[in-house]
Amino acid sequence: MTEKRAQFATRLGVIATTVGSAVGLGNIWRFPYEAGVHGGGAFLLIDLFFIFIIGVPVVCAEFIIGRHTGANVRGAFKMLAPGKPWGIVSYLGILASILILSFYSVVAGWTLEYIGQSLSDFSGIHSPEGLHRQFDIFAQSNWRPAMWTVIFLLCNYLILSRGVQKGIEKMSNIMMPMLFVILIAFSINSLTMPSAAEGLSFLFKPDFSKVTPSVLIGGMGQAFFSLSLGLGCLITYSSYFKRETPLVKTAFITAGLDTLVALLAGIIIFPAVFTFGEEPAAGPKLVFEILPSIFSNLPGGMIWSTLFFVLLFLASLTSTISMSEISIAYFQEEFGMSRRKATWLNIGIAMVLGIICALSFGMLSDFTICGLTVFNLFDYLSSNILLPVGGLIISIFVGWVLDRAVVQRELVTVNPGRATIICVRLIVFCLRYLAPLCIAAVFIFGLGLF
Ligand code: PFF
Repeated sequence: MTEKRAQFATRLGVIATTVGSAVGLGNIWRFPYEAGVHGGGAFLLIDLFFIFIIGVPVVCAEFIIGRHTGANVRGAFKMLAPGKPWGIVSYLGILASILILSFYSVVAGWTLEYIGQSLSDFSGIHSPEGLHRQFDIFAQSNWRPAMWTVIFLLCNYLILSRGVQKGIEKMSNIMMPMLFVILIAFSINSLTMPSAAEGLSFLFKPDFSKVTPSVLIGGMGQAFFSLSLGLGCLITYSSYFKRETPLVKTAFITAGLDTLVALLAGIIIFPAVFTFGEEPAAGPKLVFEILPSIFSNLPGGMIWSTLFFVLLFLASLTSTISMSEISIAYFQEEFGMSRRKATWLNIGIAMVLGIICALSFGMLSDFTICGLTVFNLFDYLSSNILLPVGGLIISIFVGWVLDRAVVQRELVTVNPGRATIICVRLIVFCLRYLAPLCIAAVFIFGLGLF
């Protein structure tokens, strides 16, 4: 590598880009729909367990690998465990990142359609039934969703080809704070809805009789997906961190803000679901049917709606650029490709697969593998299988194989207090025992292997 490797410019930039990767459709679109399908409260509890008890330590593990090596996923494992099979996790991660980018871009494309629809005031349609029909007609039409997917991926190209600092960091710094403000405003609005109490109790009251194997797998998958964890995204991003960046703190801030956004999304969606007499288990279309109904009942709804979908689009963009960065850094550093070429390759593959995913709501809706459409298959396979497997391997690697002095040096700041030392011990304990056991247990029980 002749070029000096890029780094994030400021501390705010580190937080904003890492949170920007974590916060996206996973929180605002996927969390409410998965929670809706899996019965609400119990799902939330499993998700929270996997985010804070398992997720945060594995985030730290990815940060340790990334910053210590300063390399892409493949390069990192080549450096740390040359000739050993641990590097397989990098290939799984690259595969997962491309699968996720493909189906994610379809939903991000929907946000573009909805920016247009908001600007036209949903063609004057304001009833929930009319808005549902509108979504179905759109999603089942063949060319529009595919076209938006392609346009969304081209937006990615524009940002990614400009490099790390200029593109990614600048955008995250502006849009993340705006997104928080608007989410808080909408949740206050939802709390005043007639069925707010019912919605909140669905979301927050765990009903343990609903904990089935699929809820366990789904909750674990959601936590990994939402934290952008298990596929090397955080290894790649932290390879751009400076020495002074405190890893544990960054991991906690990321998990905290990420959870906050998902909870806000739930607080916005579920009171509305019950107020409008909708079905919480509507699946991927839930948010796109409920949100327009909320907006059309607000004064100035058109402006709110446009603003919301613009921010959702931008939040998706900060996530997709982070997942693309995994394979782009890999192509650049391992094959000596130019940034432009590497970006084209990544975006090109995602375009082909993304169009197939987009069509799986239309002309390919009957084409299923193991009972899942291509869209659902990519989502299930990446979130529920590949990411947790990646997390399992990474936690075992950092907990048992990586030199303990490296772990200490990366995690412990200068002059650590007692609290930091205890925290680091707990993280190492979790990486060695708790994370591998919990992930393996969910696989064994959840997939019915036992
Ligand atoms: N965490 C992102 C979200 O919640 O929308 C999705 C994601 C981003 C997954 C980056 C994986 C990744 F590498």
